Amino acid sequence: MFDTQPSRDELLALIAPCKGLPGPLLVMLHAIQDRVGYVPASAIPVLAEELNLSRAEVQGVISFYHHFRDRPPAKRRIEICRAESCQALQGDRLTAHIEQRTRLRLGETSADGSMSLQPVYCLGLCSASPALMIDGTVHARVTPERFDELLSQMETRE
Ligand code: FES
Repeated sequence: MFDTQPSRDELLALIAPCKGLPGPLLVMLHAIQDRVGYVPASAIPVLAEELNLSRAEVQGVISFYHHFRDRPPAKRRIEICRAESCQALQGDRLTAHIEQRTRLRLGETSADGSMSLQPVYCLGLCSASPALMIDGTVHARVTPERFDELLSQMETRE
């Protein structure tokens, strides 16, 4: 992770290995977010120039995919699966419980940047729904009670 916004040269170095690959914009966006933690606004003109796209086209792709962030991630990231299988297996009830416990609505980040609550669409654990991810670790068959345990483990680690 970078402590400050990467420079143009650092961005160019990050995306250089992706040149010539199929679907280079997505690959480059992943490369930037993996290293920087998010896709800074300063990357948009660099990507547009390198791929001969308009800035609006690059911005459109970033906005389309929920995965890409345009600001540094929260310290604690909770991502709840909102796809079909998880919704069918008490996903709405779990989401409502998590919103109530975290005092965040789905899609929000706390004002101090300490926690975010984001939707994701399938974590590949449909047979063990409902599923969620906390700081990149997936959890399956999550009940409200299990979420409370995970939350208190998170608070203990802080
Ligand atoms: S639908 Fe939730 S993990 Fe697939």
